[in-house]
Amino acid sequence: MLASTAQLRQTGGREFARIVFDEETIARRVRELGREITAAYPDGDLLVLGLLKGSFIFLSDLVRRIERPLQVDFLVAASYGSDTVSSGHVKLVYDPETELAGKHILLVEDIIDTGKTLNRLVTLLRERRPKTLEICALLHKHIAEHLELEAKFVGFDAPRLFLVGYGLDHAENFRHLPYIASLT
Ligand code: IMP
Ligand code: MG
Repeated sequence: MLASTAQLRQTGGREFARIVFDEETIARRVRELGREITAAYPDGDLLVLGLLKGSFIFLSDLVRRIERPLQVDFLVAASYGSDTVSSGHVKLVYDPETELAGKHILLVEDIIDTGKTLNRLVTLLRERRPKTLEICALLHKHIAEHLELEAKFVGFDAPRLFLVGYGLDHAENFRHLPYIASLT
């Protein structure tokens, strides 16, 4: 990949192996997802629950493409340190006080890798008796051995590489990139 000067300024001179999904491709798919989600929820209360921090950019773009009333809240679950390999340890740092019972809950995740984070969250969220619970993931690596709940909405099938940008980090860096790139 030949990075532009603007890109290099943004990454502090770092060149990524490859831009996997560029800005335009992401925007197009997010618009489609917005339409799919709008059609999937003809009635009832919809709460879009973003999993921080990774989903923050995706969620903010996505909710603006959903053409029906909704509410937004966030959860924080930590499963990765600065490493690029899942520890399998999932810690729920913040629990939303928002009422989930009787609402359609759409859990928004940046990427499904081992699925451990989601499996734990789905179990916790089901205990709160939502009307429905579905997952919208921007990226899906399709390597999870067992998923409590398969994502109903998926942005892109992801290569089995470590990806950064558009919310995804490596050691908290690169979340702000407007595209998704592979680190190596
Ligand atoms: P899982 O529990 O293994 O599915 O991991 C989910 C979380 O790990 C995601 O929400 C991300 O924060 C992080 N993660 C997994 N794969 C990647 C990657 O390729 N790039 C950056 N973060 C990732
Ligand atoms: Mg992360």
